[in-house]
Amino acid sequence: MKILVTGGAGYIGSHTVLSLLNKNFDVVVYDNLCNSSEESLTRVKQLTGKTVEFIEGDIRDKEKLSSVFTAHKITSVIHFAALKAVGESSQIPLSYYQNNVHGSICLLEVMEKFGVQDFIFSSSATVYGEQNTAPYVETMTLGRPSSPYGTSKVMVENVMADFALANNKFRGVSLRYFNPIGAHESGQIGEDPKGIPNNLLPFVAQVAVGKRDKLNIFGDDYPTKDGSCERDYLHVMDLAEGHVAALNWLHKHDTFAGVEAFNLGTGQGISVFQIVNAFEQATGQTIPFDVAPRRAGDLAAFWANAEKANTELDWQAKRNLDDMMVDTWRWQSGNPNGYRKDDGIS
Ligand SMILES: NC(=O)c1ccc[n+]([C@@H]2O[C@H](COP(=O)([O-])OP(=O)(O)OC[C@H]3O[C@@H](n4cnc5c(N)ncnc54)[C@H](O)[C@@H]3O)[C@@H](O)[C@H]2O)c1
Repeated sequence: MKILVTGGAGYIGSHTVLSLLNKNFDVVVYDNLCNSSEESLTRVKQLTGKTVEFIEGDIRDKEKLSSVFTAHKITSVIHFAALKAVGESSQIPLSYYQNNVHGSICLLEVMEKFGVQDFIFSSSATVYGEQNTAPYVETMTLGRPSSPYGTSKVMVENVMADFALANNKFRGVSLRYFNPIGAHESGQIGEDPKGIPNNLLPFVAQVAVGKRDKLNIFGDDYPTKDGSCERDYLHVMDLAEGHVAALNWLHKHDTFAGVEAFNLGTGQGISVFQIVNAFEQATGQTIPFDVAPRRAGDLAAFWANAEKANTELDWQAKRNLDDMMVDTWRWQSGNPNGYRKDDGIS
């Protein structure tokens, strides 16, 4: 099987490519490198001892994308390529819809042209919106997310559903990720955000290596166990293995057509204060922090009901919070500037 991985040089993509190679899938990565570096793939090759073809290109460039399908007999697509900064998406919503929604449509059009039906989409827990309450279950009606980023994920899920109604061969899987953190246990690949990290753990790790002064904890007066927000954090390698499980599920269900959604999470809410404590304990580092006002659009708490992925995909998050912290620190302390060779602070 030959898998096209869009956005495969990025954080979750590179870990998934590694898992795919370790399971002997052939992989072609297509990425415009707008938020990543090809160095991640060089390291994946070193770690696996396998090759992976990389093509630099944009998913909205249908001509270039078509040339990839002409050159390779692609059997399935895993679609990570997207812009993902929640806050930024409110400032430049049109760019987010352009990239994430229009880009996904371009990809589906090219897949249709080449008769490729198997499509695994990176969705997000944010599609449940503010109306639903945790634990989120796949049968819930999708809500109204609090950001254009989240709305772009709902829109692509709707596009997939309508496309499946019109094309009775389409086989779509929507993986709704909760909060991936951590890094490969080698410390060779990990999350390498450009600029100021949007997510909690990369920020904590950058405080620990001295790139940032202190952490801001946005709100300590939520109705949660300790007043800070709670999220369902899962190890990025568990998430990567979830994609292999989804591919195997498609392979096993060879008569399946339509779209199926699966939550990928641990089923457990962890608070911001718990993350900071766990990081300090696992690494021996101290994380100075301030409590700042709540951030607009942040929900108090959510976590997954992950039973469907457990039973149908035979997938379960195996790594614990300590693994997530230790692996993050191994990556961040060994690569204080991420994949960049210079020591400039971005
Ligand atoms: N990281 C999370 O917390 C999280 C949670 C839920 C869902 N997701 C989704 O998972 C996917 C991967 O996220 P990530 O954290 O690895 O992000 P990332 O930014 O590290 O990876 C995305 C990759 O897509 C590429 N890309 C973006 N637009 C492109 C385009 N038009 N053409 C080609 N390549 C393009 C980027 O260069 C990058 O390599 C995204 O779709 C994201 O929305 C992420």
